[in-house]
Amino acid sequence: MKKRILVTGGTGFIGSHTVVELQESGYDVVIIDNLSNSNADTVDNIEKITGIRPDFEQVDCLDFAAVEKVFAKYKIEGIIHFAASKAVGESVQKPLKYYRNNIVSLINLLELMPKYNVKGLIFSSSCTVYGQPDKLPVTEEAPIKKAESPYGNTKQINEEIIHDTIASGSPIKAILLRYFNPIGAHPTGLIGELPNGVPQNILPYLTQTAIGIRKELSVFGDDYPTPDGSCIRDYIYVVDLAKAHVCAMNRILDNKQLEPVEVFNLGTGQGLSVLELINKFETATGVKVPHKIAGRRAGDIVQVWADPTKANKVLGWKADTTIEDTLRSAWNWQVKLRERGIQ
Ligand code: WQD
Repeated sequence: MKKRILVTGGTGFIGSHTVVELQESGYDVVIIDNLSNSNADTVDNIEKITGIRPDFEQVDCLDFAAVEKVFAKYKIEGIIHFAASKAVGESVQKPLKYYRNNIVSLINLLELMPKYNVKGLIFSSSCTVYGQPDKLPVTEEAPIKKAESPYGNTKQINEEIIHDTIASGSPIKAILLRYFNPIGAHPTGLIGELPNGVPQNILPYLTQTAIGIRKELSVFGDDYPTPDGSCIRDYIYVVDLAKAHVCAMNRILDNKQLEPVEVFNLGTGQGLSVLELINKFETATGVKVPHKIAGRRAGDIVQVWADPTKANKVLGWKADTTIEDTLRSAWNWQVKLRERGIQ
């Protein structure tokens, strides 16, 4: 009998790639998503990739009764919780939307899990919890810094809610995965990142510029204390990231966890500057990216990259796709979107 995993936000960017990897590893999946920032045709595209249609319920995680119906309908063994609002800038304008969506959703799941005997939870956290780390690369032991935005704060609060709930005796196991900067798309070009309106993250802005939707990419600052003056991040291929969720779920369901809450950094361990990223994209794809140096963006971290040793050793996982292949996958996705008349 296949084990069934509930994936909240499973039609979103990281969620959809994770559903594919779960199915390809022999899990059954039920997705819940309110489609506030994604499309139902992602379910069709997942089926095209894997040959298996995941169950899909259009449900908002804030709707306790509707979520409970899903728990009652399916025998769920584990949950991967992606569903969340994720625009940093918008969270400053609409903090209550972010606190309600991101926190109440988690509370609903945590209340339902023991009642329906669901053992494991994987939570989508972020390197944003480290702020600007004092030491690089950043390990899981680095101190949590005061959040720069309500969005970042919801990730920190949710980590605490999980710790407190388990400390109170809830019979749950949890793994908190702190992502660095996920980019790229499935090699088929059938699923990827589809931002609403003008992209805030660099890769979709870059590929939209390369294809001519945007005039030029602004490089936010070239006067930082880094080798070329632009900010440094750890860009991780979304398919590698998705695979880490399967390793984490296996660990929980196989009872391999040593502590009831475990935390892992998911990154490549390599830092890349904005200017290096543009350069690598141009070399890997042969496509030019018109860009200009612009002023610094408020709130930007200067440099951050992961020490992924713990995930490498304990989860037996490694991000091993090259940055060139990753950037080519992002470009392939952008080209396919145009062919499909979407952008
Ligand atoms: C990357 C780099 C920008 C756009 C995001 C989330 C954050 C966390 C991690 C989830 C920075 C530069 C960007 C542009 C640019 N994720 N840039 N021109 O800031 O690392 O944060 O990922 O929890 O919450 O917001 O990612 O893609 O916005 O920026 O020069 O048009 O690209 O300054 O150095 P960031 P990003």
